[in-house]
Amino acid sequence: MNETPLRLDLCSADDVAPGTALQVEAAGLVLAVFNLEGEFFVTDDACTHGPGQLSEGFIEGDVVECNFHQGLFNIRTGAVVQPPCIVPVKTYKAGVADGRVYIDV
Ligand code: FES
Repeated sequence: MNETPLRLDLCSADDVAPGTALQVEAAGLVLAVFNLEGEFFVTDDACTHGPGQLSEGFIEGDVVECNFHQGLFNIRTGAVVQPPCIVPVKTYKAGVADGRVYIDV
């Protein structure tokens, strides 16, 4: 039996300019909301390697560079692109409705 996902409202799409990210807290989660040329992606904000915050990272294409040790993650999939991080970062199913970015958890 599938449980109905819980939809969490995160922010206005206008709050996140293309090529940038925003830290958002919702339901006890600390998340990074990314705008990649108008497409929104959401990951955990905490780097899986240490105290870095991906919302503070450097974004190039669909990759974010952790602001702490410069590990690289794919924003779309959470996969590690370059160590020292090893563990993928969790991603969430994101969407936009009525100008608001949400995730289903
Ligand atoms: S804390 Fe992010 S790469 Fe080390």
